[in-house]
Amino acid sequence: MQRRAMLKGCAAAVAVPMFAACGPNGSAKAELVFDPDAFTTEKKTVVTFDRDKEVTYRRYADVVYVARPVDKAYQSLNVSVPVEIDGAAVDASKAPILLSNSVGGYLASSVTNGEPDDGGDRRRNQDLALAAGYVVVDSGARGRDLVTPDGVYYGVAPAAIVDLKAAVRYLRHNSGRVPGNTDRIVVTGVSAGGALSALLAASGDSRMYDGYLSELGAADAGDTVFAAAPYCPITDLEHADMAYEWNWGANPLRSGELDAAASRELSTAFTDYQASLQLQGKNGFGPLTADNYGRYLVRTYLEPAATAYLNALPDADRSSYLADNTWITWAGDRAEFTWPDFLTHVGERKKGVPAFDAFDLSSGENNEFGAGTVKARHFTLFSQRRATGDPGARLDGDLPEKISMMNPMFFLRQRNPARAKHWWIRVGTKDTDTSLTIVGNLAASLENLGDHVDAAMYWDAGHGSNEDAADFIAWIGKVTGYAG
Ligand code: DHB
Repeated sequence: MQRRAMLKGCAAAVAVPMFAACGPNGSAKAELVFDPDAFTTEKKTVVTFDRDKEVTYRRYADVVYVARPVDKAYQSLNVSVPVEIDGAAVDASKAPILLSNSVGGYLASSVTNGEPDDGGDRRRNQDLALAAGYVVVDSGARGRDLVTPDGVYYGVAPAAIVDLKAAVRYLRHNSGRVPGNTDRIVVTGVSAGGALSALLAASGDSRMYDGYLSELGAADAGDTVFAAAPYCPITDLEHADMAYEWNWGANPLRSGELDAAASRELSTAFTDYQASLQLQGKNGFGPLTADNYGRYLVRTYLEPAATAYLNALPDADRSSYLADNTWITWAGDRAEFTWPDFLTHVGERKKGVPAFDAFDLSSGENNEFGAGTVKARHFTLFSQRRATGDPGARLDGDLPEKISMMNPMFFLRQRNPARAKHWWIRVGTKDTDTSLTIVGNLAASLENLGDHVDAAMYWDAGHGSNEDAADFIAWIGKVTGYAG
C-alpha cells in the first residue's frame, strides 16, 4: 500500500513539467517493467522487393519509457513483434531490434496516435524490418516546439537525446521481457532524426546525461546500442554553417541575396575546423583538408553514386542522361567528373547565410538551443558576435555543454569506447539541407576509429531519400549475426 501511494504521488508530480519532485532516483522504477501480455494482434501487408508479405504482429502501444515523464505523449514508445509471416510462425524473441525515431526538424514526435505518419519512404525501413522478422520499436521524443502554458520551452536541447537514451535504457532494462535481443539494437532516423540516431550511437553510456536521465526516472541500465543507420543527419550543428559555405557557398539561392562576405568568412573558417579534426580519407586518400575535400567527395562518394545510378539505367536512358550531362565522362562503365562541375549540376542551395545559426534567430536550430522561456539562442560565436555587434560576446554559460551533448562528433573525438561499432550512413547527392562534409566527416571519424562503416550517397537524390532499403534490411541481419 505504501508503495502504491508513493507511485501515485509520483504520477501527480509529473503534471509539473521539467522538475517533478518525486523521491530519489529509482523510487518509481516498478513502472518501468514491460508487460509482455499487453499487446493487440494486428495484420499488415508489406510490399517487399520481390512480393507482398502478409505480416501478423503483436503491437505494444503507448509504453511510457520513463518513471517520471514530463510529457507522456512524447516519452512513449511502440513495439511491433512479428509472429507470423505469410502464414508461417516466426519467433522474434532473439531478433535484432530496429529502434526508430521519427523526429523531423528537431520538433517533438509522438507515437501515441498510431504509427508516426511521416509518409512514403520514412516508414519503409520499419515495415520491411517487420516483414524480415525483426522487432521494430518506434520511439517518441520531446522536441523544440513544446512549450508550457507559461512559456517554458521544455523540449529544447538536450531533451530529445535524453528521451531517446531513456528509451534505450528502458529496452535494455527489460531484456528478456521485451521481445528481441536488446544487445542488438539498431537505431535509425532521418535528418534531425538521423542526427539523433548518430548521437545516440556515438554517445553510448556517456555520463554527461546522467542528471537529466535521473530527473526523468529513466531505467537503471546502459544506453549503448549495437549499430546506427543515420539518413542525411543534420548534425555537427556548431560547425554546420562553415561547412555549408565551404560546400554550397557558390550555389545560388532560388530567390534573394546571399551575404557574400559572411559566406567567405565562414568558408574560410572551415579550413581550420577541418584541419583540427585530423581525419584521414578512406582508401589511402591521406589527410582530409578543405583544399582536397571536393576531390575526396568526388572520388569516394559522388563518382561511385553516379556510376551505380548510370549502370542501373537501361542503355537508352543512360545515353540520354549522358547527352544531357556532358560534364560527366563515361569511361566505359564508370562516371568521372570534377567537383566544380558537380556543384553546378546541383544548382540551387536550400538555405541562406548562415544556414543554421541565423543572425535573426529564425532557424529551427536557434530554437533547439533555446532554454527556459527563451525561445531561440545563438550557438556559434560567429553569429552571436555578428548579430550583437560585440566582437567579445560569449555564448550563454550553459550552452557549450549542451552543444557537445547534441553532437556525435564530440563523442567520436573522445573515442568513446562504448559507441556503436556498426554504421550505415546515407545521403542524397542533391541534399543541400546541410554540407556533404557532415556525412563525410562522420564516416571518416568512425573509419579512423576502426569501426565498420557502410557509407554511400544516392545520386541526384534529395533530402530524406532511401534507395537501397533491401540492402539495409540484409545489412541488419548480417552485422547482428541474426541472418545468414
Ligand atoms: C531537418 C531539416 C533541416 O534542414 C534542418 O536544418 C533540421 C532538420 C529535418 O528534415 O529534420
